[in-house]
Amino acid sequence: MSDKVYIFDTTLRDGEQVPGCQLNTEEKIQIAKAQEELGVDIIEAGFPISSPGDFNSVVEISKAVTNPIVCGLTRAVEKDIDVAAEALKYAKRPRIHTGIGASDIHIQHKLRSTRDEILERGVRAVKHAKKYVEDVEFYAEDAGRADLEYLARMVEAVIAAGATVVNIPDTTGFNLPWVFGEKIKFLKENVKNIDNAIISVHCHNDLGLATANSIAGVENGARQIEVTMNGIGERAGNTSLEEVVMIMNCHKAMNVHTDIATERIYPMSKLVERLMRMPVQPNKAIVGSNAFSHSSGIHQDGFLKNKENYEIIDPSVVGADTSKIILTARSGRHALKHRMERIGYIYGQEDLNDVYQQFLNMADERKQIEDADLKELAEAFDKVR
Ligand code: KIV
Ligand code: ZN
Repeated sequence: MSDKVYIFDTTLRDGEQVPGCQLNTEEKIQIAKAQEELGVDIIEAGFPISSPGDFNSVVEISKAVTNPIVCGLTRAVEKDIDVAAEALKYAKRPRIHTGIGASDIHIQHKLRSTRDEILERGVRAVKHAKKYVEDVEFYAEDAGRADLEYLARMVEAVIAAGATVVNIPDTTGFNLPWVFGEKIKFLKENVKNIDNAIISVHCHNDLGLATANSIAGVENGARQIEVTMNGIGERAGNTSLEEVVMIMNCHKAMNVHTDIATERIYPMSKLVERLMRMPVQPNKAIVGSNAFSHSSGIHQDGFLKNKENYEIIDPSVVGADTSKIILTARSGRHALKHRMERIGYIYGQEDLNDVYQQFLNMADERKQIEDADLKELAEAFDKVR
């Protein structure tokens, strides 16, 4: 039996913090319902104390969904926790996500405190949250740059105080995958009560390593990954849901699985793109418009012979459109023949050679050749041959 990895979706919290991505409550409910359909295990619905609008959204999302755990973020501050508990009162499965900075940089320059005092505040916050809900997740902010012995002490103390999940964020996206993986392994091996909680990883993408770091975390014992759809989030973003889910789906040797309905990934990506007004880059893994497009002659020829030559995922598995053969001046005869046949023009080898020369002239001029251009080419060719 493979182990389950829980998918904690923070699109509506870390994702929604991005300038320009703000949503109203109706839009957030629409996304939360789609997250439920997608099969995410935990929806981080917001940061209730941050504004009346965020508070209200957490209330309404709690009412709107049934299966996922609904989670509200807090600082390690009693008032934050009281407000989050109030916002979550309609949730069928509520979780409070509280925490505090764990790195010396945060302790000294943000919190202006000491390691011992911060650890004590973390423990107090967990105990306070436990008065309201059974399920309490603790985040050790900037764990990626924290002293490892201190981090282990903090993790042990918050688990002893009742934390059910311990979140180890690489808040600044600084870690290398093998270093981050070693940190998770160290916690697994050195925190006495670690098996009383799930280890979660929450990675940012400042060096483009969020996905690799999250997977390294799972390889070393983490069983929850915090993600956003399309990887949106603070600065360079968060770990992409679609990437980690499909990595675990493609690599059965990892012996882990998620409960994500993969065929809903692409529609979900489009919904988030539209409502958050945050375009997905064309070459984005899994959900970019070029993710299943083939444009060079060599690749097109190989793909048309057997799609496994150049595709590791069938687009239907993630609910995307069928693979595309894009025609440009880099395309070969095989691709031109394929696209011409699809619109009803069948050529023998000699004619194909001739029409291909004219195609190249047109492609140099027009860059990308669509079906209407092919029709024009075919009609002009019919007149002269
Ligand atoms: O990046 C981070 O550390 C966070 C925490 C609040 C979990 O978003
Ligand atoms: Zn974050």
